Amino acid sequence: MSELAGRAAFVTGAGSGIGRASSLGLARRGAYVWVTDVDEAGAEGTAELIAREGGRAAAVRLDVSDEAQWTAALARADDRDEALTVLVSCAGRSMIADTATMPLDDFRSLLAVNVEGTFLGMKHAIPRIAGSGGGAVVTISSLAGLKGIPGMAAYCATKGAIRMMTKAVALECAELRNGVRVNSVHPASSTRPRGASTIPRRSDAPATARREPGSSTPTWSPRPRCRSASPAPRRRSRIPSASSPRTPPATSPVPRSPSTAG
Ligand SMILES: NC(=O)c1ccc[n+]([C@@H]2O[C@H](COP(=O)([O-])OP(=O)(O)OC[C@H]3O[C@@H](n4cnc5c(N)ncnc54)[C@H](O)[C@@H]3O)[C@@H](O)[C@H]2O)c1
Repeated sequence: MSELAGRAAFVTGAGSGIGRASSLGLARRGAYVWVTDVDEAGAEGTAELIAREGGRAAAVRLDVSDEAQWTAALARADDRDEALTVLVSCAGRSMIADTATMPLDDFRSLLAVNVEGTFLGMKHAIPRIAGSGGGAVVTISSLAGLKGIPGMAAYCATKGAIRMMTKAVALECAELRNGVRVNSVHPASSTRPRGASTIPRRSDAPATARREPGSSTPTWSPRPRCRSASPAPRRRSRIPSASSPRTPPATSPVPRSPSTAG
């Protein structure tokens, strides 16, 4: 298939996992792929795989949280004939930490990659995609952007932010009628080729906690399982039964301000 012949796709976090698979898929459809990652060796590995299959790609080191690097990487894309048509924003990190003990710097570093990195990609790539006649942007949120996961408040916050940011940008593009479709995808847990999921499950906790580079929070902080020695006391039902007469509440509810919206 070559429906993307003469077109370019820009993929972040393309050095492994979903980003690598997306890059290979786009190249198989004829796109020239900008394979970008903060991990340069990973990006080169993906570009090599594409070349081995007869596709075309360039590996570029890009830290998505750095706006100057975005400008430089996209300037290289501007210099080629293939029109930028696709952005797949895969770069991301996960982090497992209890909210009460997570350092603020770790929270901010996750926001910088997952949220700011996605924002910067859309900010700089969408005008180019629109200028080349339109195309598609895909951001990678997560199931964690749809539901809460204990121990992953920071990750859930970033993935929820990606989801809503994507919806807002999609509507901006619709208003502008610039021909750019913008969607987020929400994977559950996928497995990498070597069999390790990016999102560790608590039951997968390694004996020693792993740390992201530059982070003081382990990506996995094992906690002892809660065990109760004796069965928990049964909660009393708050729903009055037909045989128990209703008693008025001890305190009267605070009246709602008429101006308070729900
Ligand atoms: N694998 C899953 O189960 C799963 C589930 C839901 C969502 N996701 C999301 O999918 C995306 C890809 O995940 P994956 O499983 O392929 O993980 P992965 O770790 O295999 O790939 C992530 C890539 O992002 C790169 N990266 C990290 N920080 C970066 C930065 N600052 N700038 C540029 N690149 C950076 C890494 O080097 C890596 O190559 C992530 O956003 C992740 O949150 C994954």
